[in-house]
Amino acid sequence: MTVYSMEQVVFRRRSVRNYDLKHAVPDETGDLIAAAVDRFQPGVSGADVGAELIPADDVAEVYAKPDRVQAPCYLALLAQDAPHALVDVGRLGGSIALTLASQGLGTCFLGTMRPKSSSTFGLPYAITIAFGYQRDDIILHDEPNQSDRLPLGAVLVAPDGELTDTQKAIALVNAGRVAPSAMNKQPWRIAPEDGLVSIWRKKPPLLARGVMNHLQQIDCGLCLASIEAEAMVLGHHPTATRLPEGQRGTQVENCLYEGTILLEPDAMDRLIARHDMTGTETSMATAAENPTPEEHV
Ligand SMILES: Cc1cc2nc3c(=O)[nH]c(=O)nc-3n(C[C@H](O)[C@H](O)[C@H](O)COP(=O)(O)O)c2cc1C
Repeated sequence: MTVYSMEQVVFRRRSVRNYDLKHAVPDETGDLIAAAVDRFQPGVSGADVGAELIPADDVAEVYAKPDRVQAPCYLALLAQDAPHALVDVGRLGGSIALTLASQGLGTCFLGTMRPKSSSTFGLPYAITIAFGYQRDDIILHDEPNQSDRLPLGAVLVAPDGELTDTQKAIALVNAGRVAPSAMNKQPWRIAPEDGLVSIWRKKPPLLARGVMNHLQQIDCGLCLASIEAEAMVLGHHPTATRLPEGQRGTQVENCLYEGTILLEPDAMDRLIARHDMTGTETSMATAAENPTPEEHV
């Protein structure tokens, strides 16, 4: 089996639905997942998030589908019922899925399968990830950027000023662009600025809001996770956060703000300095402690 670098998996990963049920996943995989959960910082929401392995016979379909994904292993991602916690669930799931891919393991997020007994978890259930070895051991695209995705111009929200390093910013936007999303809807719009990248989510149609809001907040977390992973490949020290209103750059039309990756620890200071110069009065700390509940739909 092949081991890959993070650089390879960010741009070449794809969902795997055809697992080799007889090929056992190494025991150390559980430790890798536990380590990813331990080091995870829920910077967007501050909520408790977690993950629990689910026995394969404890997974049930939400809708009966003929093409049910059968995998040797399943992971339930969990989140406190708190504002923006699902974005952090997506970030955690994204980081776990990329880590598993680097070990040659395929993954597929599943909104259509869930544990039968979620009441036994300490936190509410959010989403399932199936994982294991792919039948033919091919878990990545042959070349980067072969995923079926919207073109760069459709998701990039161009910044007002010049980018300090256009090439890096485009690599980061592209990393977000190739993230997985429920039904490949790619609800994100990606706005790079000097030292940070923000994610906005297209508001789903009114009638689709319940389930779509749940899944698409997770999608946006996956987009953030992919950008964080690529930022590390490029030598940054990224952290995820939720910027207060007034400091998120231009409001993207028909979109909800979902979070920001700060590329370096001092990015926040530089942002505050920029906003001070432009006369913005919002206090970072106060606004971050009081996320705006009216944005929930
Ligand atoms: C939150 C979420 C839920 C998903 N649910 C399912 C699902 O129930 N069944 C399935 O086959 N794929 C599911 N997927 C996988 C997507 O269909 C897939 O990521 C998307 O089509 C893009 O393809 P790729 O991951 O191969 O690039 C889900 C993905 C996400 C992020």
